[in-house]
Amino acid sequence: MKIVTCLVLLAIVAVVRADFYMHNPRGSNNRLSEDNNNRNNANRLFDSQNNNRGGYNVGDSNTAKNGNGRGDGTGILTYYKTSILRVEWTNQHGGENPNVNTQVVFQYMCDDQSATYVDSNSVTQELWNTDLLRDGDGSIGNAANQRVQDDTQTQRGRHEPIAFYQHCSTRNRNRGLFIATENIADNASARRTRQDNAGTQYGSECPEERDYYPYWHPTPWKDIIVLTSNMTQCELYQTESQNVMAKGFCVDQQHNNRDDCIDDGSQWYEVAPWGIPAPRCEPLAFSRDNHLGNSIGGEPLHFNWTIPSEVTNDAKCVLRGRYNISTDDYDGWNQFYEEDEDGDVISPITDDPNVNLLKGTGRAAGVQLNVDVSQFGRTFQDRSHTFIIKDRPADIPAEAKIYNLNVRGRRGNIVQVYPAVEYDFIPRELVVTPTDYVHIAWTGSLSSPDGAGQGAANSDKNNLVCTASAGHSVPLTFADEACNLFTTFAQHENFATAGVGGATIDELLNNAPATYDGGLIQPGGGQVGDYYFLNTRNNHFSNRSQRGSIKVVASV
Ligand SMILES: *[C@@H]1O[C@H](CO)[C@@H](O)[C@H](O)[C@H]1NC(C)=O
Ligand SMILES: *[C@@H]1O[C@H](CO)[C@@H](O)[C@H](O)[C@H]1NC(C)=O
Ligand SMILES: *[C@@H]1O[C@H](CO)[C@@H](O)[C@H](O)[C@H]1NC(C)=O
Ligand SMILES: *[C@@H]1O[C@H](CO)[C@@H](O)[C@H](O)[C@H]1NC(C)=O
Ligand SMILES: *[C@@H]1O[C@H](CO)[C@@H](O)[C@H](O)[C@H]1NC(C)=O
Repeated sequence: MKIVTCLVLLAIVAVVRADFYMHNPRGSNNRLSEDNNNRNNANRLFDSQNNNRGGYNVGDSNTAKNGNGRGDGTGILTYYKTSILRVEWTNQHGGENPNVNTQVVFQYMCDDQSATYVDSNSVTQELWNTDLLRDGDGSIGNAANQRVQDDTQTQRGRHEPIAFYQHCSTRNRNRGLFIATENIADNASARRTRQDNAGTQYGSECPEERDYYPYWHPTPWKDIIVLTSNMTQCELYQTESQNVMAKGFCVDQQHNNRDDCIDDGSQWYEVAPWGIPAPRCEPLAFSRDNHLGNSIGGEPLHFNWTIPSEVTNDAKCVLRGRYNISTDDYDGWNQFYEEDEDGDVISPITDDPNVNLLKGTGRAAGVQLNVDVSQFGRTFQDRSHTFIIKDRPADIPAEAKIYNLNVRGRRGNIVQVYPAVEYDFIPRELVVTPTDYVHIAWTGSLSSPDGAGQGAANSDKNNLVCTASAGHSVPLTFADEACNLFTTFAQHENFATAGVGGATIDELLNNAPATYDGGLIQPGGGQVGDYYFLNTRNNHFSNRSQRGSIKVVASV
C-alpha cells in the first residue's frame, strides 16, 4: 500500500505544463504580423495552449514595412510536389521518455478540398469546402487579428470552414469521453471538452476534434504522420484515419452517432475517405521533459515530409501539428466516463488532492499535489502560415529528388526570441546525390518584434553566399576557386542579393525582399563535394550563426 501511494505521488508531480512550437515551416502560434513579443490574439485561428511569446509572423513579400506599420503578409513559400521538407519543432516533453506518454500528429489542409455526401435522392451535396483558406491581411491592422465570424470578413485569417465549427457547436458531445471531475452538461455540444470545458471558440476549430485523434466525424484535415511513445497505437491510427476511413454525420446535427440519428428519424450520411495512404506511424524521439527542445544530439525534433502530390497545382495549404501528453495515473485510451449509483462521477484524478503520506500508520502528514484535471492529459498545437504546393517543374526528371532548403528563426538574440529560435538555414547540413536538386527559398517578416540584429529594425532579410568551410565567417567571392556551390555567376549574384542584383543591393540587404525563391539548383552542378555557405547580414560571430552546408555524395 505504502509503495503504491509513493509511485502515484511521483508520477503526479512529474507533469506540469508543456508547449509545442513549430520552427519549420514557421509556426504562427496564432501570430499574424504584430510587432510585439506576445501574440495579440490566442483565439485567432486555433487553440495552441502555448505561451503567448511563441511563434513567427506571416511572411511578407516587400522590402519594407507598409500599411499601418505592418507587412503585407504575402510572402508565401512554395514547395514542389514530392519534394522533401524538414519539419522541425520543439516540444516540452516527449517521446521515449518514461515520464510522459506522448503523441504528435501532423496534418495538412489545402484550399482545394470539399466534404461531400450522396443524399437519399442520390444527389451529391456539399457539407463544406476549404476554398477560403487564408492567413489574414496584416496590413489592415488590429482587425486582422480578430477571429473570423462570417464569410464577409475576408481580411481575417481562416483555416477550418465555418460550417465545420457550426456542426461541432450544434452536435452533442461524445458522452463516453472521460471528463474527470469537470462539470460539463450531458447535453452540452462538442464545443465543450475536459480541456475546454467553457467552450471557448478558437478560429473555426472544433474543440472535441482538437482534443481527440483519430476523430469520429468528418474533418477537413488530411493525416501525414503520427509520432508516438506507444507504438501499439499505430494500428488504431492507421485504420481509423480519415485518409482511409469514411466518417459519418447526422442530418439532424445534434446527434453524434448513427443509432441515435436513425432512432430519431433523421438520416446518417458518410463522407468518403480522402483516398490517400494511411498516415505514417513512427516512434517519437526522446526529449527531456520540461526542458523545451532538449533532445538527443542537440537537434530539435523533426520529420521529413514528402510534399503530397494529390493536391491541385498551386493549392494553398497549411500544416497543423498537435502534441498530446498524458501520465500513467490513468490509461487515457481505456478510461471512459463513469458514474456511481448516485450519479456522481468516478474519476481516478481530482484537482489538487491532499495525500496523507503516513496513511495506515496512525499518524498524518498531508501534502497537497498540483493537479488540474482539465490539463492532466492535454493537447497543444501549432500551425504554419499558408504555403503553396506546385507541380514539379517539367524539366526535372521524375526520379530526381528535390530537397527544400529554407531559413528558420526570427530577429533577435536567444533571450529575445525564445521560445522561437534565432536565424539558421534548415536543413543546416544537407546530404544529396549528384542527380538531386535543392530548392532554395526563404520568407521573413517585416514587422518582427524588435530585437538584436543587423540592418533595418523589425525585418528578417536573408541571402546565401559560399564560404570555404563551416568554421568561416568571411565569405568567398565567385572568383575564388573554392566558391563552387553555384555554377553560374547569375545564380551566385541572385542568392547573394535575394534577386536584387549586385549594382543596387544595400550592404545590409535593407532593399532586399523579405521573401525570395531562387528556384532549383544542383549544388556544384552535381559535382561530388562539400559546399558551405552563410548569410552575410545575420551571421555574426559569436552572437548569431546562420551557416549551412550541402554535401554531394555519390550515393546515400
Ligand atoms: C440541456 O438540458 C437542459 C435540462 O433538460 C435544458 O434546459 C437545456 O436547454 C439543454 N441544453 C441543450 C443545449 O440542449
Ligand atoms: C490524446 O490522448 C488521449 C488519451 O490520453 C486520447 O484520448 C486522445 O484522442 C489524444 N488526442 C490527440 C489529439 O492525439
Ligand atoms: C499503449 O496503447 C495500448 C493500445 O491502445 C493501450 O492499451 C495501452 O494502455 C497504452 N499504453 C500506455 C502506457 O499508454
Ligand atoms: C531526414 O532526412 C535526412 C536526410 O536528408 C536524414 O539525415 C534524417 O535522418 C531524416 N530524418 C528522419 C527522422 O528520418
Ligand atoms: C553581441 O552580443 C553581445 C552580448 O550580448 C553584445 O554585447 C554585443 O553588442 C553584440 N554585438 C553586436 C554587434 O550586436
